[in-house]
Amino acid sequence: MAHDDSTTSEKRIVAIYPGSFDPFTNGHLDLVERSIRLADRLIIGILRNEQKAALFTVDERIEMVREVVSAIPNVEIATFDGLLVDFASRSGASVIIRGIRAISDYEYELQMALMNRRLRPDIETVFLMAGEAHSFISSRLVKEVIRLGGNISGLVPPSVEGRLRKRLLGEQQ
Ligand code: PNS
Repeated sequence: MAHDDSTTSEKRIVAIYPGSFDPFTNGHLDLVERSIRLADRLIIGILRNEQKAALFTVDERIEMVREVVSAIPNVEIATFDGLLVDFASRSGASVIIRGIRAISDYEYELQMALMNRRLRPDIETVFLMAGEAHSFISSRLVKEVIRLGGNISGLVPPSVEGRLRKRLLGEQQ
């Protein structure tokens, strides 16, 4: 999908990778690295959802994601509220990336993808599978494990682990 310089009718693929990212995990990072091989530009879209109780503020999540992806070319970070497809459309994106870990993810993801397609038929959802080493990681479980004293190294980037330790265990970094 990435553009080919030899063609005259070049089409640049802009993709959105949306989510809550509370916190950003190594599973998310794996998806970003896979997505940027398919798209010319990838926008990580952090949902601003005041109703959903989050551990990290949106500003903290922007910083957290930036620390981890800043060295990856053509990856940007943005926030959105309202409909994802409207944000995609405003951003000039034609692709929405979602990760599928297990079959249990599929039903909810299919429903969202079909609803988004109904709202904006010109935007395609692409499902990517995280590498098997990451297929069991979720933001929710990472928070639960660290809260209960478990080891989360390797599940989140080191900078994110530091933030989690500070927030949930009161450790000074
Ligand atoms: O990381 P998450 O929490 O699984 O991400 C869910 C997200 C942000 C992709 C989804 O909640 C979303 O798209 N919200 C925006 C509102 C919207 O467009 N709703 C209709 C989707 S069918």
